Amino acid sequence: NWTMDDFINLQVKAIREEVGDQKVILALSGGVDSSVVAALLNRAIGDQLTCIFVDHGLMRKNEPEEVMKALNEDLGVNIIKVDAQKRFLSKLAGVSDPEQKRKIIGKEFIEVFNDEASKLKDIKFLAQGTLYTDVIESGTDTAQTIKSHHNVGGLPEDMQFKLIEPLRSLFKDEVRVLGKKLGIADDLVWRQPFPGPGLGIRVIGAITEEKLHLVRETDAILREEIANAGLKRDIWQYFTVLPGFKSVGVMGDGRTYEYTIAIRAVSSIDGMTADFSQIPWDVLSKISTRMVNSVKGINRVVYDITSKPPSTIEWE
Ligand code: XMP
Repeated sequence: NWTMDDFINLQVKAIREEVGDQKVILALSGGVDSSVVAALLNRAIGDQLTCIFVDHGLMRKNEPEEVMKALNEDLGVNIIKVDAQKRFLSKLAGVSDPEQKRKIIGKEFIEVFNDEASKLKDIKFLAQGTLYTDVIESGTDTAQTIKSHHNVGGLPEDMQFKLIEPLRSLFKDEVRVLGKKLGIADDLVWRQPFPGPGLGIRVIGAITEEKLHLVRETDAILREEIANAGLKRDIWQYFTVLPGFKSVGVMGDGRTYEYTIAIRAVSSIDGMTADFSQIPWDVLSKISTRMVNSVKGINRVVYDITSKPPSTIEWE
């Protein structure tokens, strides 16, 4: 009768044997998989693990702080947080093509990771949050050809590390159980899917700090109200998008000309197909009122009512 406790004990033993007194590096994205690997390795080898957490400035509101709290403060995981917002934004300036944006973010991520990794001495191992589904899908992912998925944690080609992939035999739901057993905060363990390029593909077209601000603030309101309504676990993925055009509105006695925000919420099993979620009108109404009243620069909120296919979940 195999349990998650057995899995942890076996993995801890195996990792200690393999690593010995050597050092391990891990690219921490703030997602479930890399966070669980970090917690597991921390249990096995403590500070022989160094996590590199790149803040590219495209994360959600308070996300970098929440990741640091859950893993570093609560569990004692050794993390180097790199503030690379300026670097990413300047590389992205004026770029409006979605695939180009993904390429830049992916490439810049690897460069920042390389820069930090090369400052550390005597690293022998690279840990990754590869899951069973990644193993069986590798090479045949058709979604990849539709949108190139630059997940953080891509192996830098010119680095000679031995790989450690302790989640290779697990499915996503098992990874969550494992994360919970290891003491990772619920919000992180149950986090909704969030793309590697982050808010960078939720500002349609060229990214500016102002537009990032609008999408980040409205996304925070959406998440808060979905939580208040008790719908957090019912909706697979929910977020806001800034299409980038302005439209006319009226506020007090004055005409306004401001940005529109779109709400996207879907139910799905694996992201390959999805149905738009039927969020109750009263919840949507509250969300829309809060966004327009409290986020300066927004005067209209629309709801995306297309499923996948024919749409995709993200707008870019
Ligand atoms: P689409 O938009 O293709 O999204 O219907 C399907 C799922 O994949 C996520 N997604 C990404 N994840 N890097 C990622 O790590 C990406 O570039 C990327 N593009 C889309 C999307 O959030 C959804 O969960």
